[in-house]
Amino acid sequence: MERFVPLCLSLILVLELVFRAAGNAEGDALNALKSNMVDPNNVLQSWDATLVNPCTWFHVTCNNENSVTRVDLGNANLSGQLVAQLGQLPNLQYLELYSNNITGTIPEELGNLTNLVSLDLYLNNLTGGIPTTLGKLSKLRFLYEHFKIFMWLTYLVSL
Ligand SMILES: *[C@@H]1O[C@H](CO)[C@@H](O)[C@H](O)[C@H]1NC(C)=O
Ligand SMILES: *[C@@H]1O[C@H](CO)[C@@H](O)[C@H](O)[C@H]1NC(C)=O
Ligand SMILES: *[C@@H]1O[C@H](CO)[C@@H](O)[C@H](O)[C@H]1NC(C)=O
Ligand SMILES: *[C@@H]1O[C@H](CO)[C@@H](O)[C@H](O)[C@H]1NC(C)=O
Repeated sequence: MERFVPLCLSLILVLELVFRAAGNAEGDALNALKSNMVDPNNVLQSWDATLVNPCTWFHVTCNNENSVTRVDLGNANLSGQLVAQLGQLPNLQYLELYSNNITGTIPEELGNLTNLVSLDLYLNNLTGGIPTTLGKLSKLRFLYEHFKIFMWLTYLVSL
């Protein structure tokens, strides 16, 4: 018994570290975006990377497994560049970044967002066009970039 209690405690500690690391991978990815943005209106102020997961952050929505499904940062007066780490949000469905001052290119890693339904990047200053990796996203239906509207119809991709 005397040995059993510390053993249990250390097991709990190890498990907690494992879960925390898993939960925080998505927080780390979003924090990479935050680090790359100039945010004069402090819309990313609640993005505290030390929390267990990003689900309580403003402008972030999670599913009931605490995995990020939406990032809503339209019209937020952000400037800076997108980051490759955004491709590490496996359940992301909506990435809304319209009407900011974002420059640079769209990372080809966004092609890893297999659950992405909508990507709104219009009214920014992005260059370099749409990466071909986005063509393999079968759920992506709405991709707005610059003023052009691209409709990715699921059946067209699956042909
Ligand atoms: C956007 O940020 C700039 C500073 O970078 C500031 O001058 C401007 O007032 C902000 N615009 C809005 C709508 O908050
Ligand atoms: C983008 O930046 C310019 C100059 O810094 C500023 O005048 C403009 O209001 C910004 N636009 C948005 C949508 O934040
Ligand atoms: C885009 O860049 C141009 C000049 O490079 C600037 O005049 C314009 O305000 C920028 N647009 C936005 C939405 O930041
Ligand atoms: C994501 O996409 C990039 C480029 O499209 C690729 O190199 C990378 O291996 C992919 N996977 C992960 C987990 O980032």
